[in-house]
Amino acid sequence: MTPVWDCMNASATPVRRQLHPPPVAPSPFPYNPGSLLSVQDLTLEAVSHILARATDLENMDPLVRDRILLKRRVALLFYESSTRTRTSFELAAKSLGADTTLVSSLSSSIEKGETLKDTGLTLRALGAEAIILRHNSSGAAWLLEEATRLPVLNAGDGMHEHPTQALLDLRTILTHLRPGIKTVTAETLAGVTVSIVGDILHSRVARSNMLLLPRLGARVVLCGPKELLPELAANAGPDIAVERSLEAALRQSQVVMMLRIQAERLAGMQLDLEQYKANYQLTGQRLAAQASSAVVLHPGPIIRGLELTAGVADGAQSAILEQVRNGVAIRMAVVERALATDGKGGGA
Ligand code: CP
Repeated sequence: MTPVWDCMNASATPVRRQLHPPPVAPSPFPYNPGSLLSVQDLTLEAVSHILARATDLENMDPLVRDRILLKRRVALLFYESSTRTRTSFELAAKSLGADTTLVSSLSSSIEKGETLKDTGLTLRALGAEAIILRHNSSGAAWLLEEATRLPVLNAGDGMHEHPTQALLDLRTILTHLRPGIKTVTAETLAGVTVSIVGDILHSRVARSNMLLLPRLGARVVLCGPKELLPELAANAGPDIAVERSLEAALRQSQVVMMLRIQAERLAGMQLDLEQYKANYQLTGQRLAAQASSAVVLHPGPIIRGLELTAGVADGAQSAILEQVRNGVAIRMAVVERALATDGKGGGA
């Protein structure tokens, strides 16, 4: 198993074919209390605080809000493409008054071979007070935090985790199933089944949700073909089940989270897409027949006509664009928390 700190540069080989990523680095990570590397870093109290603060910040007068992190410096360091995460983190930081700068692997000295560590140290020397990192290697956020000791926000590391996506997914689920709830506990989602369908193997979104939702009492059903959901997933946890039939998964679900097939991580794997669609595409017919009141989620980007039909994506049960909107609120709370002097949020 590759230790997380072995991914020493941008071209390090991503850890592949592991349903279970390397274990979260032991203490003393995170060094910086403002970091968010994994959903496992967060107690339910911290999750409650982030959710409440997201709502406070969303409702705040923008002229008051943009003084909270006035002129603080936040760097976005992106080694992989992103639309939702990058834009919402940037809008979130700017909404709080912070100055942001984007370093993308395609237009920076990363192309010349500069390592993640040296890029991070350079950003720190330039005055960055927090770094938001998306990287193709699992564990890269831990490496960056170790090197810089700055607050690092994991915006997706390889096939490992995407903690802010899980938080915004949770906010979306609570809005639909537990409206008005103020704090989350181990019973908040008792009786709720969330099916995660599709390319579980390569999905950091699935992993962060699998780590978070059962802690609130939800049952998670993983659904997909063997190529994208290995048998060993059956051992993922007591509140996590594997179901090969989409119809059977839908019948149990109050929430259905569809996933894109991550073509960029298939690495030669042969997948019969027509067969996949026949068995796993979320169609209006399947939804109406098996889960007519379930909330449909998708982290995006969606591929219309593959994992779900356009009718489902645009339909009344879809909360996909709500998820996108919730991303800004959640990321405001997380960026504020990163730069708060006590590391617990509530303002710098
Ligand atoms: N959900 C998500 O991470 O989307 P992006 O890749 O567009 O950021």
